[in-house]
Amino acid sequence: MTIQLKDSSLLKTQAFIDGAWVDGDKGETFAVTDPATGQHLADVASVGADETRRAIAAADRAMIEWKALPAKSRSDVLEKWHQLIVDNTEDLAVIMTAEQGKTLAESRGEVAYGASFVKWFAEEGKRVYGDIIPTPSDRRGVVVKQPVGVVAAITPWNFPNAMITRKAGPALAVGCAIVLKPAAETPLSALALVELANRAGLPAGLFSVLPGMDAPAIGGEMTSNPTVKKVTFTGSTPVGKLLMKQCADTVKRTSMELGGNAPVIIFDDADLDLAIAGALTAKYRNSGQTCICANRLLVQEGIYDAFVEKFSAAVSEFRIGNGFEAATTHGPVITEKAAKEIHSKVQNAVEEGATVVIGGQPGEQGACFYQPTVLTNVTEDMRVFREEIFGPVAPVFKFSTEADAIRMANDTEFGLAAYVYTESMGRSWRVSEAVDYGMVGVNETAISSEVIPFGGVKESGQGREGSKYGLDDYLETKYICFGALQR
Ligand code: SIN
Repeated sequence: MTIQLKDSSLLKTQAFIDGAWVDGDKGETFAVTDPATGQHLADVASVGADETRRAIAAADRAMIEWKALPAKSRSDVLEKWHQLIVDNTEDLAVIMTAEQGKTLAESRGEVAYGASFVKWFAEEGKRVYGDIIPTPSDRRGVVVKQPVGVVAAITPWNFPNAMITRKAGPALAVGCAIVLKPAAETPLSALALVELANRAGLPAGLFSVLPGMDAPAIGGEMTSNPTVKKVTFTGSTPVGKLLMKQCADTVKRTSMELGGNAPVIIFDDADLDLAIAGALTAKYRNSGQTCICANRLLVQEGIYDAFVEKFSAAVSEFRIGNGFEAATTHGPVITEKAAKEIHSKVQNAVEEGATVVIGGQPGEQGACFYQPTVLTNVTEDMRVFREEIFGPVAPVFKFSTEADAIRMANDTEFGLAAYVYTESMGRSWRVSEAVDYGMVGVNETAISSEVIPFGGVKESGQGREGSKYGLDDYLETKYICFGALQR
């Protein structure tokens, strides 16, 4: 074990089921490695369908008392969990950088981001209001909101902390129990988070964490078990579609936060420096591995050359390396396979005529590194236009008119986030309304926070996370009719 923590008891390698740390039934484990160094970090228990079934049964039992508590009592536990996450920021960040590769600064930022969902939903869970409806007759309709039931969550490796808290926070706040399968690449962050939830006094069974290599077995049980009433997933569109199909048999509710293909539309009238700063953040955050990362930079012809020159100069200042080293601005990508996939998209573009302005090759720092890359002379039939790149590669496309930009932005099956840079108020409204995306940043790419509804349209998914809307995904609406009021 090579991760050095202030509190070494945060480094957990067993599954957490029904309030207890346990090995998998078959005693199987899987290795977690540091993508920056390839170093072995830990062997983690690998569970399957049987352990998942037990966790779901425990969740069902635990929910009975939890949902009956006043919202304030649930909120008190979440407030304690939030404080423990904040107090242990440094250890959680070290675990994250070790297993995910992002820089320590980014990991600290993500821990704060993750904690913010717990805090927000601790507060917002106290504001689950209903309605009283005056009906046309001698009756009153009362609408109450109730917890949806046992929730199963499957979370990704790109944000090993925040994608968990933005599901567990609202679920627990409204009275649900949750069983979670974290990504196999980053289970240690999830296990540390549930250890802190346990220390905060969360009753046994309400939050189980099921690490495992056999995703079809765990996911298959989650999606077929009738006790699970809702499945929430963040990850790729193909896996999301599969989970939705599997959930159909028992008519489960689903929330899907899936792939993106975000355009950053930069008009001639944009503030160029502001647009460059925004595009750099949107493209290279987490080494290009977020669902809302800029996938396509669409730049109007009048400022195209100036944009490419200044943008590439800024990219040339980046230093890729081990996320623990202070000079590193960008860490590795998650696996060697991911680095190869990114390179194959770049090669496809180059074979089709693209020009590499900077980068364009795997990094020399290790198998999981890829050079920050800028491509020009790119066209709409290339893979870098059609597919999610999920790496530090910026293809810069040229457009002529506003109508062209809108057409190009919408020419994708995805619809998560889009960004627009213009100094024209009218254009910012027109374009924001015309693009088919769940979220639009106008002169801003840092759009995420706990107070906004994060989510997409089209094949980028359904449901919203964060904000008051994020509670709805964990609530059922019940109508109660009070009749015979004149008796
Ligand atoms: C994601 O990549 O899915 C999450 C990004 C964010 O929350 O900003």
